[in-house]
Amino acid sequence: MNFSGKAGLVTGSGSGIGAAVAQGYAQRGGAVVVADFNERNAQKIAAGIVDRGGRAVAVKADVTKLEDIERMIAIATDTFGRLDFLHNNAYGFPPKVGAPARIAEMTDMFWEYGLNVGLTSCFRAARAAIPIMQRQGGGSIVNTASISGLFADPGSACYNAVKAGLINFTRTLACEYGADGIRANCVCPGVIDTPMTGGAFNLVPGMRDAAIAQVPLGRLGTPQEMANVVLFLASDLASFVTGAAYVADGGQTVDSGNVFSKFK
Ligand code: NAI
Repeated sequence: MNFSGKAGLVTGSGSGIGAAVAQGYAQRGGAVVVADFNERNAQKIAAGIVDRGGRAVAVKADVTKLEDIERMIAIATDTFGRLDFLHNNAYGFPPKVGAPARIAEMTDMFWEYGLNVGLTSCFRAARAAIPIMQRQGGGSIVNTASISGLFADPGSACYNAVKAGLINFTRTLACEYGADGIRANCVCPGVIDTPMTGGAFNLVPGMRDAAIAQVPLGRLGTPQEMANVVLFLASDLASFVTGAAYVADGGQTVDSGNVFSKFK
């Protein structure tokens, strides 16, 4: 994979999967906008890329705010002159929004924030990026969905709805702009060892081991392994891949759970 002469933007790239994608894109010659609402982390990741001889700029951008989305896209083209790759990846809840709950107990505030940060933001960023990619004759949009967009997680209805919505939004994006050379795909990670999951594992003893026990490969995924999939989807190697929801979960979701196979 070679991204020389190309430019990308990764949201939520101050940490975890997004950071690995930004680093991997730059390592392979691409210029990258490291966008995150955690400005210090974004600057740290961008500085690390530049120290290793890559091209990166950090942008403080809260993807729940339309003006920040439009500004981060404008910074990409102002700084690097183009935008070939958009990775919509940011997700998370500030404590003031509250905690996940079952449907009958969930607040409007929690639901609306989840939709905004995980779905509306992707629509708005794609809307801003599409005309640029059309002018350039193409581009690649990758959205971080989840296996939680394919199956249910009791207690996480908002997350399930957001990620499922993102998968089907991405399919429509692929249909509407394929003729312009714009490809759109999702990656659907399983359980990945990032600060997001680490926070939950640290709170609940035994949870990390229980998560690992569900994975046929016998371990959690790494941010680097998710970046490998995202960068493949971003690259010309995936030139005939669009509208896909690419599962990378160590086999977690392939077991039917059929009771007969458990009693042999
Ligand atoms: P992470 O917590 O390491 O990184 C998320 C980044 O998003 C952080 O840097 C955070 O500051 C940023 N962010 C949060 N809200 C933001 C906002 N409003 N505006 C801008 N930036 C914001 O988490 P991780 O695990 O790397 O997650 C990345 C993506 O992968 C998310 O979309 C998540 O839903 C998805 N995912 C993660 C899985 C996992 O097991 N870690 C599994 C499946 C999907």
